[in-house]
Amino acid sequence: MSDQSGGGIGVEIIGSALHLPEGTLTNKDLEGMMDTSDEWIVKRTGINTRRRADIANGETTSVLATEAMRKALANAKVDATELDLLLVATMTCDSPTPSVGCVVAREVGCRDIGAMDINAACSGFLYTVSMADAMIKSGTYKTIGVIGADCITRHIDYSNFGRGAAILFGDGAGAMVLRATDDSSKGMISHKMHADGNGAKHLFIPSCEIDFPEEAEFDERKLDKVQMNGQAVFKFAVTKFQEVISETLEESGLSADDIDHFVCHQANSRILDSARERFGIPSEKLLVNIQKYGNTVGGSIPIVFHELVADGKVQPGQKVMFLAFGAGLTWGSSLWQL
Ligand code: ACO
Repeated sequence: MSDQSGGGIGVEIIGSALHLPEGTLTNKDLEGMMDTSDEWIVKRTGINTRRRADIANGETTSVLATEAMRKALANAKVDATELDLLLVATMTCDSPTPSVGCVVAREVGCRDIGAMDINAACSGFLYTVSMADAMIKSGTYKTIGVIGADCITRHIDYSNFGRGAAILFGDGAGAMVLRATDDSSKGMISHKMHADGNGAKHLFIPSCEIDFPEEAEFDERKLDKVQMNGQAVFKFAVTKFQEVISETLEESGLSADDIDHFVCHQANSRILDSARERFGIPSEKLLVNIQKYGNTVGGSIPIVFHELVADGKVQPGQKVMFLAFGAGLTWGSSLWQL
């Protein structure tokens, strides 16, 4: 889908927020749990510390998502009853049902509006915000709450056996409130959603024996834990990140210089550096916060966005490109005029 800004309805991001668990997991903590080192982790990923939800005491994805949405509504000065739809990007639902969306809608006090989860792993928020824009521009809904939230650390093996993935991930949530506006220049200019299920074998969480791809041998220790071929994902991410920036710029007739902020999924600082170097993006246009939070999956993009907002760096009229890649494999972009 290409330019959607020609109609009469625009979309405005009228509020945003983030919510992180208080518990931390530093590189030093990990040194005590597995054979790794602060130096190795910082050099390979740029991560110093991450947040870890207290799952045993009920700090689940829906708890983080609810807090993020409450704060975003307050930030937007919008009451929960004004929401017409609630969408949650997550791959770590508390349990198969109810959805995180239904729980959040109940907790924040929505009317009996539609509420659901969308699973595209780390690309989830990007998919979700793009769909929300289209639903508002179609005239179907006026105000939509969009959340990215994950408690991925519950699916991590913090032993030597799982150390490849254990160092990367942290928990967190971010949210936005989107609303229809008469200014049709505002909202998504262009977007790309991609998926290639052939790469699913490189990043998966098996629940039982049949979930193991043909190439992988069943191992009970892997059940319910992130399984990742780090090098394959790294190569995929570097390639697709650059490809999707190029196709989005080309389709919108813009150059990298025209973009005010590249709001990128935070998976590895080396992946972000490669995109920055390839397109000559100055560091002030591509915020890196992975050192503080690690890879927070669906939470990553709205967390970066809200940090920019909180620092006063986001202004009306700016162009923002949201970019992500993740399990599935999935990747994409969503280019917005604020
Ligand atoms: N600490 C110390 N050594 C380690 C660790 C660790 N935690 N993990 C692996 N090693 C060792 C390996 O065993 C290997 O040792 P060897 O050479 O003796 O065999 C060596 O370090 C190098 O391992 P590599 O896997 O080649 O390390 P690499 O440089 O590729 O870095 C990493 C690994 C950080 C995981 C990297 O591949 C990466 O970031 N990949 C992308 C992952 C990613 O982005 N995933 C999220 C996708 S988003 C989503 O949707 C969930």
